[in-house]
Amino acid sequence: MDKIQLVSEINELKQQKNAVIMAHYYQDSSIQEIADFIGDSLALAQQAAKTTADIIVLCGVHFMGETAKLISPEKKVLIPDVNAGCSLADSCPADAFEQFVKAHPDHTVISYVNTTAAVKALTDISVTSTNAVAIVQSLPKDEKIIFGPDRNLGNYINSLTGRNMLLWDGACHVHEQFSIERIVRLKEQYPNAKIIAHPECKSAVLSLADFIGSTASLLRYAQRSDFSEFIVATESGILHEMKRTCPGKTFIPAPPNDSTCGCSECSFMRLNTLEKVWSCLKNETPSIEIPEELRVKAVKPIQRMLDISHQLGL
Ligand code: 13P
Ligand code: SF4
Repeated sequence: MDKIQLVSEINELKQQKNAVIMAHYYQDSSIQEIADFIGDSLALAQQAAKTTADIIVLCGVHFMGETAKLISPEKKVLIPDVNAGCSLADSCPADAFEQFVKAHPDHTVISYVNTTAAVKALTDISVTSTNAVAIVQSLPKDEKIIFGPDRNLGNYINSLTGRNMLLWDGACHVHEQFSIERIVRLKEQYPNAKIIAHPECKSAVLSLADFIGSTASLLRYAQRSDFSEFIVATESGILHEMKRTCPGKTFIPAPPNDSTCGCSECSFMRLNTLEKVWSCLKNETPSIEIPEELRVKAVKPIQRMLDISHQLGL
């Protein structure tokens, strides 16, 4: 099937089945173009909580589908590729995290939404990069906190808030591999460019940045800025929405150290294709299934995150 035919069949299936397609900003442009909703991790969770569709096709990675299913168990949640995992979520196995939590019983457990449902079941409050700083700041100053799994985001929050959260030693393979030397060289080439970076990047990269924020915050910064050139240190899929909404501005993807693709694409995110979106919608598989006993535990930190975010106006 060619692209035009695929898109028309996807639209027809969506109507027939009362389905909605949600996509993360790191998806291939062809998927962002057909999505009913695109957003960062927080926005996708918020949207999953309020959609009236019967089927959610979550184009992102596995934990995003899981989050949607935790919040909306009565809906069918489909994902285009069951192998679309996340190196950050993988860096935090539930059994090891449980030992870490048990070793610090007087601590509140905050974990990034990039975790499995089993890790969420051990968590008090989930956060995303959009609300992490505000949620940590909303807790009493002397509260003892465990933060997992991203050590870079954890260090960044500690430095901004003056907290001393205990950090899990995990990281994202995409955000960890930006090259400081190559960013510096790029900046020499584009002296007027603003360097904008996701807090999952290493602190050395963040120290070069003019602005640090979640995927959605980087987008908003670029849209509102009077500057017209940006070196973007996050997954390069966000450049699609940046270019679409900021015509006339220039976006340059920050270069990684050696990587197999020489790019800053998340290999998991990019497993999803238009063909797989069509196929999962047509066959209603693969779908996310979570045992109810696990779901009731794992949804609690997500619900708490959504409630606090709502109170904070995020
Ligand atoms: P946000 O969507 O919260 O910015 O997270 C980035 C990310 O790595 C998602 O996988
Ligand atoms: Fe996970 Fe990193 Fe890919 Fe996001 S970009 S899904 S954190 S591996």
